[in-house]
Amino acid sequence: MSMQKHPIIIQGGMGIAVSSWKLAKTVSLTGQLGVVSGTAINSVLVRRLQDGDKDGDTRRAMKAFPNQAIANQILATYFIEGGKEATKAYKRPPMFTVNSPKALLQLNIMASFVEVWLAKEGHSNPVGINLLEKVVLPNLSCLYGALLADVDYVIMGAGIPREIPGALDLLSENKVASLKVPVEGAVTGDETITSLDPAAVMDNVMPAKLKRPYFFPIVSSSVLAANLKKKATGEVNGFVVEGPLAGGHNAPPRGPMKLNERGEPIYGERDVVDLKEMAALGLPFWMAGSYATPERLKEVQDQGAVGIQAGTLFAFAKESGLADSIRDEVVQLIAKNDVPPEGFIFTDPLSSPTGFPFKAVRLGRTISDKDIYQKRKRICDLGYLRHAYKKPDNTVGLRCPAEPVDDYVKKGGKMEDTIGRKCLCNALMADIGMPQVQAGGEVEQPMLTAGDDLNLLGRILKPGQLSYSATEVIDYLLK
Ligand SMILES: Cc1cc2nc3c(=O)[nH]c(=O)nc-3n(C[C@H](O)[C@H](O)[C@H](O)COP(=O)(O)O)c2cc1C
Repeated sequence: MSMQKHPIIIQGGMGIAVSSWKLAKTVSLTGQLGVVSGTAINSVLVRRLQDGDKDGDTRRAMKAFPNQAIANQILATYFIEGGKEATKAYKRPPMFTVNSPKALLQLNIMASFVEVWLAKEGHSNPVGINLLEKVVLPNLSCLYGALLADVDYVIMGAGIPREIPGALDLLSENKVASLKVPVEGAVTGDETITSLDPAAVMDNVMPAKLKRPYFFPIVSSSVLAANLKKKATGEVNGFVVEGPLAGGHNAPPRGPMKLNERGEPIYGERDVVDLKEMAALGLPFWMAGSYATPERLKEVQDQGAVGIQAGTLFAFAKESGLADSIRDEVVQLIAKNDVPPEGFIFTDPLSSPTGFPFKAVRLGRTISDKDIYQKRKRICDLGYLRHAYKKPDNTVGLRCPAEPVDDYVKKGGKMEDTIGRKCLCNALMADIGMPQVQAGGEVEQPMLTAGDDLNLLGRILKPGQLSYSATEVIDYLLK
């Protein structure tokens, strides 16, 4: 496919399920690229089923899955007709490990299949899926589910996804694919690997061959892009170049981390990407991180980019997966120009267990609020952000700096690494209206992320307008 045939605008993947299939479908129907998020998608699926799948969308997609025995097993385990009682806890699938049980892999394959299938239903325009390199353990099964649903683009950041292109080549032929799992404390040569054997997990019920989608890593420098182009295990087809103003996780500043007086990482000249160097790589690229205006789009196109990837403007569109109450509150604050003196966005160097800076929207009722954060009893029951570490007996364990401090320290983690860490897994599930009800009735609270662009949401809203569609974002950007 030539550069011109790729879409100009990529609606960035936004986890967990903020870039839901409904948002991605709306964008893809315009001819631009809608991208679903694959992060924690198995938890999203099981909670939708336990909420009763009121519109029947999830079950309709599950009917299209090649292996119906797997679909039936998942329904029998999680579906609740009419939905669970609001005060009851959601049943959770087991957490991913280096060798996850077959039923969990099947569930994850199903979940990403459903998300991509629904985004593609009823049209033939391309759809993408976004994953985080750092959340390594679910990635192969998630990719395979997306391939089964004929995904067109895979876009991955939060790390250096060097092994993904080769894994896509193998998975598209139903061959065993493997990824190295970074293990803290492991010595060179002592590798830990997580694998997926599609035929074994699918009980041999799957199409003979699947389409190999385009693969775009998300990079923060042209050096990294060049390195990936040369050293990835398979073909890289383009790049998303993301700067520190983007919503979600940001790459840390180059060099030692220095903070400004508000406690946010300071980015400098070295963090600015040279578009000429990007263009010289000869692959299509898109700019992300506060590029979502028609003027900036034109500017970067003049410098060789195909277009832009935008997130924040789409995150608050009515088709996104955000809970209505959160979306409405933010949009109303912006419409009223009720901006806190320090702005809406705080780039928190500590909150994310990944260790990457993570942008938080200042809203009084999220776990970014000190009181709410301190009141929450630490628990790790979703576990997507656990890191692997070497135990004294040489086996591999998993720990998260946002888990209960004692547990983390018992596992050999450093006390100081737990300070300020937040349970993004539970908070992001709360953002999409599926908070866990923990023991004792404690309901998990949200923690909203958005880019610096949020301050400019007003440019989409006409006077008096309190909600907007993703199609209005596209119209605005392409006007
Ligand atoms: C709510 C939200 C969640 C996000 N989650 C992810 C994610 O899971 N993976 C990812 O690669 N990027 C994520 N991003 C980044 C977007 O995909 C996109 O690159 C970025 O938002 C572009 O900059 P903009 O916010 O200025 O438009 C997220 C952004 C937002 C606003």
